[in-house]
Amino acid sequence: MNADVKIEVRNLDVFIGNTRALRGVTIDVPARSILGIIGPAGSGKTVFLRTLNRLNDLTRGFRATGRVLLDGADILAPGADVVGIRKRVGMLFALPVPLPMSIFDNVAFGPRLAGTRSRRTLRQIVESSLKAAFLWEEVKDRLNTSSLRLSGGQQQRLCLARVLAMEPEVILLDEPCSGLDPVSTARIEEALAELKARYTIILVTNNTKQAARVACNTAFFLMGELVEVGPTSKIFISPSDPRTNDYVIGKFG
Ligand SMILES: Nc1ncnc2c1ncn2[C@@H]1O[C@H](COP(=O)(O)OP(=O)(O)OP(=O)(O)O)[C@@H](O)[C@H]1O
Ligand SMILES: [Mg+2]
Repeated sequence: MNADVKIEVRNLDVFIGNTRALRGVTIDVPARSILGIIGPAGSGKTVFLRTLNRLNDLTRGFRATGRVLLDGADILAPGADVVGIRKRVGMLFALPVPLPMSIFDNVAFGPRLAGTRSRRTLRQIVESSLKAAFLWEEVKDRLNTSSLRLSGGQQQRLCLARVLAMEPEVILLDEPCSGLDPVSTARIEEALAELKARYTIILVTNNTKQAARVACNTAFFLMGELVEVGPTSKIFISPSDPRTNDYVIGKFG
């Protein structure tokens, strides 16, 4: 096992009912780095992300074969600790959904549920998580006001802070900026650029320019297959597969 590879996916096939959502995906996800995933609608990007933290378990008709090794241990194996996996692999969705409570309580919610009681520890977690999500300066004087009064971009960063408060090892992001304006998008991208030093990050984006800006490596999915993966500059400047080229130059999408 290579210590610089956090997740090894081997020959992953996923069926949802009769739909073959992923076919034969084999990919290494490097540790402390951002892997961007691009591809048109229905190419399997979301199904792939959700398989990595066993969220698809909740999908009716879901079936997976192959191996997904997290630090060398197969998370698809019968008897795998699903709660433990979801704690290690956090996820952020396209639509920020803060809990209808204060900013402080949103970030402290997970740690409290996990048993942290000390007010002082919770304050430290809330502050460091909000700082890492690039939100602290905007909210530090109103931590006890409702999260629902934040802007959409601030709510998305609050949701990122909630993920960080659980101290995950891997962060999955599914089109986290699709509903955000350019300024809010830039804040999220700034946060990711800092976070990649400590976390393994997988960023699904329908905005190829975003992958070009922030991803270290980029993978291109098409109709459930991984067409190619490589350093972002290679994927965008001289991809090996003509289908990748057609997609990144905008011929289809
Ligand atoms: N809950 C579900 N039930 C049935 N089929 C599903 C379900 N979720 C996904 N699929 C199918 O799996 C395939 C991959 O879907 P997925 O959501 O991963 O695409 P995507 O690449 O994320 O697309 P988008 O860019 O639109 O988000 C599609 O054919 C889709 O119809
Ligand atoms: Mg999707």
